[in-house]
Amino acid sequence: MKMSHFMLTGYISMIITVIAAISGLILAYQAVFLTKISHTWDLIHIVSTFALIAFLVPHTVLIMIRDYQARKTVAIKPIIKAESQYLQGTLIIAVILFAFVVLLVSGYEPAKMNNEFPDDYSFLYGHDRPFAPSLADTNTGEAFDAQSLGGSEGCGTSGCHQEIFEEWQVSAHRYSAMDVGFQKVQSVMAQQNGPESTRYCGGCHDCHDPISLFSGSKNIYTAEDDLTNLIGYQEGISCLACHAIKETDIKGNANYVVAQPKRYMFETMEGDYAKTISDFLIRSYPRYHVESLQRKLFKSPEFCAGCHKQFIDEEINQVGWVQLQSTAKSI
Ligand code: HEC
Ligand code: HEC
Ligand code: HEC
Repeated sequence: MKMSHFMLTGYISMIITVIAAISGLILAYQAVFLTKISHTWDLIHIVSTFALIAFLVPHTVLIMIRDYQARKTVAIKPIIKAESQYLQGTLIIAVILFAFVVLLVSGYEPAKMNNEFPDDYSFLYGHDRPFAPSLADTNTGEAFDAQSLGGSEGCGTSGCHQEIFEEWQVSAHRYSAMDVGFQKVQSVMAQQNGPESTRYCGGCHDCHDPISLFSGSKNIYTAEDDLTNLIGYQEGISCLACHAIKETDIKGNANYVVAQPKRYMFETMEGDYAKTISDFLIRSYPRYHVESLQRKLFKSPEFCAGCHKQFIDEEINQVGWVQLQSTAKSI
């Protein structure tokens, strides 16, 4: 039999559908059970999806034109009938699947981020410098929900960054808030100069870290308080405390700007199911995850200097500028 262009586009569409379905299943498998999807299968899946559109649209449109032109012929009647039955079936299945997705989406309630300063927050240095005397700032100038920079453990338990997580877990960065020496010095400072003064420490480590600084919950806790559940205290300089930094300045004293990372669906929700789904989503669409958390800035020593260079000036000591530690001397 002679191959018509209807048949040719039809067969090609069929082959491409199989390729798109298989690559989709492989990607789904990889996102569920492995830590990474393969770049090649991802590419095959995307290309085959667009190729399917490129062949299927001419295939169906040309058939519709053919049927319309031949609508008066008797021989075409059963074919048109079969086609419309096929179309109906396909539409019904598509509508059911779509309704299922709509149902899932409408049932999803994103965890609310509370990006407001607490009512009793003290703006001692003015409303335009809520985190002063630290030079750290948020990109909105507003507070960030305490959760926004937390959740380091999840990066490790997902299996994706286990090694980095284990290294971080025992690092000075992780202990920067729990550090006993630090807590001691800070509480003396709070007593002598008022709790706001300790925001100075907050951009770099703190009683609980950068996290509590930006969430506006920077209070001084006494030895009797139970700090074990506080995100900031436990995580110190968390993964996101560094990875959310978007620009920095060589001046030091935490003169950097953090941007609140937009999270994936379910990422900030409690529970094993939510965690499994959000890990799946991150791994099946890692592009956004990488784009939002990796920056050129991280390759430069200036990035570290933001916190590893420190001074005090008149605002803090009422006397004048004194250079403190500067690990990044040459910068
Ligand atoms: C500019 C960022 C920055 C600021 C602001 C800052 N620190 Fe630090 N701090 C560091 C760094 C970095 C280290 C680690 C230095 C090293 O070991 O090279 C450190 C180390 C320390 C240590 C020693 C920890 C140990 O166990 O070895 C103490 C204590 C400490 N800081 C207390 C404070 C207090 C209290 C404040 C607020 C008054 C403060 N720091 C403000 C960056 C900062
Ligand atoms: C002190 C700041 C800091 C902290 C804390 C931090 N990172 Fe990073 N991270 C960096 C910098 C800087 C780079 C870039 C290194 C480079 O490109 O050479 C990086 C790179 C990465 C990369 C890129 C891949 C690689 O191996 O180069 C991943 C993934 C990563 N970090 C995950 C994490 C996770 C997970 C945590 C928490 C457990 C974490 N980071 C904590 C600063 C930090
Ligand atoms: C958000 C602020 C911040 C950033 C950014 C940062 N650090 Fe730190 N770093 C600290 C603080 C605070 C400490 C001290 C914690 C403590 O001991 O209490 C520290 C401690 C360290 C230590 C341990 C020092 C010691 O004597 O034990 C090393 C090493 C270190 N940082 C390296 C880096 C490198 C490399 C980078 C850049 C990739 C970097 N840090 C970026 C705040 C920061």
